[in-house]
Amino acid sequence: MAKKFNAAVTGVGMFAPEKILDNEYFETIVDTSHEWIISRTGIKERRLMENGASSDMGAKAVKDLLKTSGTNPEDIDLIICATVTPDMFFPATACLIAHKAGLKNAWGYDLSAACSGFLFALETGAKFIESGSYKKVIVVGTDKMSSIVDYTDRNTCILFGDAASAVLLEPTEDLNSGLIDSKLYVDGKGSEVLNMKAGGSALPASHETIDKKLHYIYQDGKAVFKVAVKGMADVAVEILERNNLTGDDVAWLVPHQANLRIIDATAQRMGIPSERVTINIQKYGNTTAATIPLCLTEYYRDGKIKKGDKLVLAAFGGGFTWGASYLVWSLD
Ligand code: ACO
Repeated sequence: MAKKFNAAVTGVGMFAPEKILDNEYFETIVDTSHEWIISRTGIKERRLMENGASSDMGAKAVKDLLKTSGTNPEDIDLIICATVTPDMFFPATACLIAHKAGLKNAWGYDLSAACSGFLFALETGAKFIESGSYKKVIVVGTDKMSSIVDYTDRNTCILFGDAASAVLLEPTEDLNSGLIDSKLYVDGKGSEVLNMKAGGSALPASHETIDKKLHYIYQDGKAVFKVAVKGMADVAVEILERNNLTGDDVAWLVPHQANLRIIDATAQRMGIPSERVTINIQKYGNTTAATIPLCLTEYYRDGKIKKGDKLVLAAFGGGFTWGASYLVWSLD
């Protein structure tokens, strides 16, 4: 059946905690240096949520979205929350955010796709709009990565930060606007090199799992880097080709912010110069499900992303999960 609507982004919101952990701080707690971190990752500083959980950050991002878009919280139909750091296994963080942000008439659920979570949730939310069933859907990415980071492990602790960001999706009859296409992938073999082993049904929490530090992120950085650099670039090129686009047509590449070298390699493969790539990894590090909407929100609010701009969003993360989306910006 031919589509009647596309899902347009009609509002954005974000929250980044105030507390900053800069590279100099990490020099005092692990064997590392500012030079190593900046040259290997592009990160200068990241944020720490001292009081509150992922739902508190998510609710603040949603409230920012509602306020700046002039939307009544009671008009929201559905909230999809992408996170790998839910407040609890259950209830879902989406329920908690809906309560805290006053979304009295919404239903919602969580979605777990690590650093690709926002893209997976965006595609899912868009389908509810395209079907004609729902008029206002919020997609929020929120991750309190500090809650699962081992601050004695220099391989991972320097990479991650805490933040949340959200977009509002509404129907548009302009089928050349909004979310045009997505291509998403999973490969569970990747679970061997990027995971949090304990706390789930495979390895419930016990003294032993705590003693072995199995409730923290484990990442074989080198192994993930190799697959990420190819996976993100391949899928970004695939989304260009599927939509008869070249790098010249793209106003902004909006990549997941895990490593500046992965971002540069993706842009290069797409033929997109660095001036047309959204970058805020230096300020926030890797905030997992929040990185892409944070970029969208900041670049839109700075007047850099404009109505009609063709955007390619791309991500790679734990699972493995990866994908790319073609989005035409709808906000004035
Ligand atoms: N400071 C100083 N040295 C360090 C640090 C540090 N913070 N961390 C690691 N090193 C050392 C390593 O121990 C290693 O030493 P060795 O050679 O003596 O063993 C050396 O530096 C080089 O380590 P590499 O792992 O080869 O460093 P690399 O250049 O690969 O950078 C990084 C590491 C930044 C983690 C990179 O591999 C990376 O970005 N990987 C992909 C991350 C990613 O995209 N993840 C997916 C999303 S995350 C998610 O989904 C939750």
